[in-house]
Amino acid sequence: MKRVVYSGTFDPITNGHINIIERALKLFDEVIVAVAESKEKNTMFSLEERVLTIQKATDKFGKVSVKPFRGLLVDFLKDEGTDFVIRGLRNGVDFEYERDMHYANRSIYEKIETVYLNSKIEDSFVSSSVVRTLIRYNGSIAHLVPSEVLELVNSK
Ligand code: COA
Repeated sequence: MKRVVYSGTFDPITNGHINIIERALKLFDEVIVAVAESKEKNTMFSLEERVLTIQKATDKFGKVSVKPFRGLLVDFLKDEGTDFVIRGLRNGVDFEYERDMHYANRSIYEKIETVYLNSKIEDSFVSSSVVRTLIRYNGSIAHLVPSEVLELVNSK
């Protein structure tokens, strides 16, 4: 049974992230979405809100579990008993960043394997910070996020 960790801050989760999860399920038996606390990022949504929203948005897929994490990604991997991480690449900047992250992680845990999926071209401009900016200024986000994020925003 191959399990993969999809880590991120997901503040909030976007359709780009959802697409990576759906495609990861074709490669792995289970996707564990690891939601980083990311205290230093001063997130718009609390860790609990992000975890709950992703749980609701991924419930229909089955074989997705959503867990909060604090600390190092490699420690989370060890706790989960898997060495695989999946990441989405939107552009060359993502690639450069992800390559350095992979080497940093590998320098402390040599068993780690990172699998990269290219984002859909129409998602290549989507980021959580674009979504947050639109939320702040009452712009439409319905085309960028799952409906569960809209519900969260409307509830606040
Ligand atoms: N579709 C849409 N957006 C995407 C995306 C995709 N497929 N892939 C990435 N993004 C966006 C994210 O929404 C985020 O947007 P934002 O910066 O506008 O908010 C941005 O790209 C960066 O995302 P990500 O790479 O997931 O970074 P992150 O900060 O959300 O999460 C951690 C990074 C938490 C996974 C990483 O820092 C980590 O593992 N931290 C733990 C400490 C550690 O072990 N560090 C490594 C050793 S030094």
